[in-house]
Amino acid sequence: MASLFTSFLLTLCLFVIPSLSSDPDPLQDFCVGDLRASPSINGFPCKSSVSASDFFFSGLGGPLNTSNPNGVAISPANVLTFPGLNTLGVSMNNVEFAPGGVNPPHSHPRASEAGVVIEGSVFVGFLTTNNSLFSKVINAGEMFVVPRGLVHFQWNVGKGKARLITAFNSQLPGAVVLPSTLFGSVPEIPNAVLTKTFRTDDATVNNLKSKFAV
Ligand code: GLV
Ligand code: MN
Repeated sequence: MASLFTSFLLTLCLFVIPSLSSDPDPLQDFCVGDLRASPSINGFPCKSSVSASDFFFSGLGGPLNTSNPNGVAISPANVLTFPGLNTLGVSMNNVEFAPGGVNPPHSHPRASEAGVVIEGSVFVGFLTTNNSLFSKVINAGEMFVVPRGLVHFQWNVGKGKARLITAFNSQLPGAVVLPSTLFGSVPEIPNAVLTKTFRTDDATVNNLKSKFAV
């Protein structure tokens, strides 16, 4: 009986407790990622020599070019662009919108998101796993959160440009961007799957695929 209890506790520690956390805690002050090496079990190996410049990043300032069909552009400060974040469990994005621009529905499998509006007026929403939409228009200085893994979007509803800074509790939150995941994958998801899923026809699916093909 005692050994059954011990195995239960061990299983809890090995699987349940880690699944409640985000990126693992660092085991040393820092480990600036050596991006020339392949990622090891979790993150990049450490660079052998570091300098102050490894801990600073100037890529979040913008302005970005938002002339694209969504009217949105993102510059990420994650471990791939800013290797000083390796093992630290945090990252940020600069998100800029043209008037009417939309950051399309997407989710981050490895992080919750917190964001602040720097400029403009933005309709921000996220959806729960039972399809409740929580949304609000927020303005400069106001903040929002998106629980880890939930689908969310932002829409610039102001007259001018809009800008957000977002932050994540992962060095590489990842983004599943629904339109391009479903209609722009390589290789393609078979039309039979998509027509049935969306209760539509081949012409509609082909039209959507043509917009998201890479
Ligand atoms: C906004 O949703 C972002 O992922 O930066
Ligand atoms: Mn996001």
